[in-house]
Amino acid sequence: MSDAPLPRPDLPSDPPGPDRGTAAVVPAAGRGVRLGPGTPKALRALNGTPMLIHAVNAMAGSRSVSLVVVVAPADDVARVTSLINEYAPPAGTEVVVVPGGETRQESVRRGIDVLPDTVSTVLVHDAARPLVPVETVDAVIEAVRGGAPAVVPAVPLADTVKQVEPQPDGRPEPVVATPERARLRAVQTPQGFDRALLARAHATVTGDVTDDASMVEQLGVRVVVVPGHEEAFKVTRPLDLVLAEAVLARRRANHGF
Ligand code: C5P
Repeated sequence: MSDAPLPRPDLPSDPPGPDRGTAAVVPAAGRGVRLGPGTPKALRALNGTPMLIHAVNAMAGSRSVSLVVVVAPADDVARVTSLINEYAPPAGTEVVVVPGGETRQESVRRGIDVLPDTVSTVLVHDAARPLVPVETVDAVIEAVRGGAPAVVPAVPLADTVKQVEPQPDGRPEPVVATPERARLRAVQTPQGFDRALLARAHATVTGDVTDDASMVEQLGVRVVVVPGHEEAFKVTRPLDLVLAEAVLARRRANHGF
């Protein structure tokens, strides 16, 4: 294991190369309280490898992604940097680590801030979705490069969804609406953006949001959906860890890795 500093992203004066155009920002600065106390969620192991490493490798697995910016818990930058060095990313992919903020939005903004000028397409991918297949990553990139300024992978819902009126004192919540299930989608990451649009959204939109696409929607820009994948689920609760390890075991049985 080496504590040597990671290479910095290319300086803006660097000439654009054939593959310099797409970068991934991986917010990994959440504490993951719903998973229980202890290590920050992104550093918890799945089959012996930290979730964050799986997520970085999922981004680096796309031939189009040449830079991954990991946004680490502010007090864990050194530990995350060591881990990245220990699990050296695939050749051809540079990984840099920056400290995160109080909210996911702030963490993503800090990642965007260090992107070299040569980057024109940005993926934002939650470290908490470690098992997204490369086909999904590539589908998002392809749609952005094809002209869509904002792209999200999404899957149909199995459950019917109710909108409720939350009650302050734990009383039963009245249902106020049942949106038509066939028109609903559960949205995953990586979400892909034209870089200038994403930067503008993060510079201007304030308020609580749970994904980057909703910030772009607030600018009045159309977001489009591409098919997501069942293995791109978010590891949130303890049962999700069991499912993630089962997915990895199935991959190993099917493909030997
Ligand atoms: O909390 P939530 O599940 O929405 O977090 C999604 C992703 O955002 C996780 O990968 C988490 O590490 C990251 N995050 C962050 N900075 C925060 C809060 C969450 O990078 N302050």
